[in-house]
Amino acid sequence: MEYTILRPDDMHIHLRQGDLLARCAPHAARVFGRAIVMPNTIPPITTSLGLERYREEILGATSGSGFAPLMTFKISESITPDDVAALKAAGAVAGKYYPRGATTNSADGIGDHRAVYPVLRAMEQNGLVLCIHGEDPAAFSLDREAAFLPVLSEIVARFPTLRVVLEHVSSRAAIEVVASMPERVAATITVHHIFLTLDDVIGELLHPHHFCKPVAKRPEDRDAVREAALSGGPRFFFGSDSAPHEQRAKECADGCAGVYTAPVAMPLLAELFEREFAPGAAAASAPGVADDRPEWVSRLEDFTSRFGARFYGIPLPEDRVYLKRSPWDVPGQIDGIVPFRAGSRLTWSLTA
Ligand code: DOR
Ligand code: ZN
Repeated sequence: MEYTILRPDDMHIHLRQGDLLARCAPHAARVFGRAIVMPNTIPPITTSLGLERYREEILGATSGSGFAPLMTFKISESITPDDVAALKAAGAVAGKYYPRGATTNSADGIGDHRAVYPVLRAMEQNGLVLCIHGEDPAAFSLDREAAFLPVLSEIVARFPTLRVVLEHVSSRAAIEVVASMPERVAATITVHHIFLTLDDVIGELLHPHHFCKPVAKRPEDRDAVREAALSGGPRFFFGSDSAPHEQRAKECADGCAGVYTAPVAMPLLAELFEREFAPGAAAASAPGVADDRPEWVSRLEDFTSRFGARFYGIPLPEDRVYLKRSPWDVPGQIDGIVPFRAGSRLTWSLTA
């Protein structure tokens, strides 16, 4: 069994730097045609020169694959409107808002959101997308996303033409708020937040490879994330938040937050969409789509290859990949990094 789909885009990924980038970027490039690349490097991406150098590093690590990194910069108070214009000219598609201390490499993040309003105004004028890590680090960990929602609402109201993406949405509260907002507000959904609850992190033994920010929450939150991914709503699209860390940085005291999902995301999503829509389902394709693929394949393609591109205003992918029902066993490590679902058997594989 084999189906073709438009090559997926990953609308939120961490590709890292140096040796780690060299090891993990090729795996992402094997799957995704394009990816929105997060700027929480050291030093962070804050200037057009830094952005250009980082893009060159990524292209070097993925050469021959056709992979196109979609670049972002880290928002800070010290960025001027001229800097925003220069970042746009250098190819930035988005700026990333990290609340101070919310996650990996965010000690230099934003304290008071109002302090970056001049930057947000310049982004709005330049047609750049605002990507938000939506957590208030001062709140209790399970409540951090919900606690940030008033800030999201304020920003959306204050900048009436700014496109905003609430990244890696992890709670029912956040999904409901995004759904109630205008068309120019969207959310990315990760594979791990579709599958995990807090019990998968700390319910029995400690599972550091399931530890991420925002942390996986209650079953009803996971179910809401899953429903949003399966809903066919075009403002909920795939962004893996694949965040590789060295094994020793995960399996230790003070372990880092991040789940490495890029190599396994598509097979896991295929399994989920098939289970949800295929059994006995009327295998009709979406209206107007003249192909004989089952409904679940078209829906998966919408989630991973159409909705994100449409929101960002970039062309749909030109390339196609094959989803093949061909089981594979996820190794314990991929180039030294422990992937999500290591040691398990997946039903689907993706091939070029
Ligand atoms: O779990 C996470 N890891 N969440 C983030 O927001 C950042 C990421 C990282 O860079 O490691
Ligand atoms: Zn991220």
